[in-house]
Order: sequence, then C-alpha cells, then structure tokens
Amino acid sequence: MIRSVYYDQTEILKSIMELCNIERFCADVTYGNGKFYGDIEQPIFKGDISPQAEGVTECSSSLLPVADSQFKSLVFDPPFLTYVRAAREGNGNMIMAKRFGGYWRYDELEDHYRATLIEAARVLSKKGIMVFKCQDIIHNHKMHCTHMNVMEWCKGLFRLKDLFILPVKSRMPIPQQEGTKKKVQNHARIFHSYFMVLEKVG
Ligand SMILES: C[S@@+](CC[C@H](N)C(=O)[O-])C[C@H]1O[C@@H](n2cnc3c(N)ncnc32)[C@H](O)[C@@H]1O
Repeated sequence: MIRSVYYDQTEILKSIMELCNIERFCADVTYGNGKFYGDIEQPIFKGDISPQAEGVTECSSSLLPVADSQFKSLVFDPPFLTYVRAAREGNGNMIMAKRFGGYWRYDELEDHYRATLIEAARVLSKKGIMVFKCQDIIHNHKMHCTHMNVMEWCKGLFRLKDLFILPVKSRMPIPQQEGTKKKVQNHARIFHSYFMVLEKVG
C-alpha cells in the first residue's frame, strides 16, 4: 500500500511513479546533484541553473530549451529558503545557500515558482504530471504556507492529484534576518516538506 508520508524522498518518487504509471521521469528542471533518484532510473532531461553534475543542461526552469508538449512528467525541486544572503549578494557563505540556493524576498520565490508552473504547463503534454517539492516557511515573522500558495498559483494550469509529506530527519539552520538577535520562538519550527503531484489540466 502506498502511503502519503515517507521519511525517504526516493520512496516518495517511487510511489508517485507507481501511482502515475511513470517508468522514468522525462525531466528534472532543478536537478542539483541528482541525490533524489537513489536507485531510480535518472530522468531523461536534466536541467539546472547552476549544473553540478555531468549531462545537466544549464537553463532556468522558467525558460526551458525544449518545444511545447515534449514531456509526460517533470520534477521541480526549487530552493525554498528566503533571506539567503547569497541570493542578494551573490557570494554569501550560508551552507544551505551554497547547497540549495535560495531567495532574498518571498516575492522572488513566488516569481520563480509561478514562472516555472507556466513553463511546465507549456512543455508537458496533455495530463502530464509535475512533481513539485516545496516547504512552508516563516519569512519576515510571517507564516507563508507555500504549498497552499502553489495551489493558488497553479489554478487553470494544474490540479492536485496527490500530496505526499516528507518529515525531515535533521534540523535545518534558521535563516537569520539581518540585524536580528531574536531568541524567543513565535512559530513552530517546520520539520516537513511536501511533494505535490500536479496534473496538467485543459
Ligand atoms: C533543492 S536543490 C535540488 C536538489 C535536487 N533535487 C537533488 O536531488 O540534488 C535546488 C536546485 O535548484 C537549482 N535552481 C535554483 N534556481 C533555479 C532556476 N531558476 N532554474 C533552474 N534551477 C534552479 C539550484 O541550482 C539547485 O541545484
């Protein structure tokens, strides 16, 4: 039985493949170092704005060098952190910024996510599947429920077919707001991310 919660992201990808009859993902547009795939067959097209592995095409997920309706499935695992100094200054030293990249403001995250949803709808064929990994965050003392925002941003392009939850095993560093030495906790620390399975509509 396939469950909605797994502690291993490769298990989630395998479950999605089984439920959606995907033998091999057609594209991963934020490929990183491909840790995602474990013993799963690698996607056919691998793209990343900053390639870290061989065979990865340098491109933005919001402007893919492929024709319309090329893919039946696409994986998108974008950065989810904000207040990442590297995103503002280009040479920050936060470990997470180096590994995963990130944004300075939440609206930069929103712009990237929205533009990629539109591009994914363009390159996916009818009823194509987009696997969208995301995490809710606290930005500027405010809760940003990103997975619900994605639901709003994908209206008219995709419908939600499934939703998986990945609890994190280790704690993530808290991105510090500049000039803040705050010690009091006002929000629950977020320990899980989502794999949204989106099906192209229309
Ligand atoms: C969370 S990591 C992906 C990790 C990946 N799933 C793995 O298994 O290694 C996010 C990736 O998105 C890439 N990225 C950030 N902005 C991008 C953009 N506009 N277009 C394409 N890739 C982007 C980063 O370079 C980084 O490799």
